[in-house]
Amino acid sequence: MHIRPIHHGDAARLAVLLEQLGFPSTEREVRQRLDYWLGDRASALLGADDEGTLVGMAALHVTPLLEVTGKFGRLAALVVDEAVRGRGAGRMLIGAAENRARAAGCLFIEVNSSNHRFPAHQFYESLGFTDSREDSRRFVLPLQPS
Ligand SMILES: CC(C)(COP(=O)(O)OP(=O)(O)OC[C@H]1O[C@@H](n2cnc3c(N)ncnc32)[C@H](O)[C@@H]1OP(=O)(O)O)[C@@H](O)C(=O)NCCC(=O)NCCS
Repeated sequence: MHIRPIHHGDAARLAVLLEQLGFPSTEREVRQRLDYWLGDRASALLGADDEGTLVGMAALHVTPLLEVTGKFGRLAALVVDEAVRGRGAGRMLIGAAENRARAAGCLFIEVNSSNHRFPAHQFYESLGFTDSREDSRRFVLPLQPS
């Protein structure tokens, strides 16, 4: 197993992984998303490759901070194929995201994780993330297309 950048050729496997994450997507839709992800210099799509098969992915976006000097990394998506969970792919993906974020000048990485993803919360805590829900709330403003 090794970590490598995701490319357009991964669209079909990425669609499988996104479905397992709870977001069924067609290969065509994934290709469209790859267009903007791969074209964004502040973003990185990291893949876990097991003998030529994409078995996991982490999506990282680097955001500049203004209130302090530095940036932070947002983990926008993380999933490992059900068939290989518990074998260290998730840990490797987080390690690679950490390295990427540190190199980009990030002070920390944050991730939003829905309440129903309890096993993922244990995963994050085992890797050193702390649950900050007591400190902050998350507000969302849906936007209509212009
Ligand atoms: C969360 C997820 C990415 C973890 O990937 P993984 O490859 O199974 O995790 P790893 O094998 O690298 O586990 C690393 C550590 O996390 C912990 N961990 C992993 N899964 C866990 C679970 N279900 N319950 C408790 N701890 C867990 C273990 O302590 C493990 O350490 P160990 O290797 O010393 O045992 C994977 O389970 C997944 O894709 N889940 C569904 C999608 C999801 O919830 N994504 C997160 C969205 S916010």
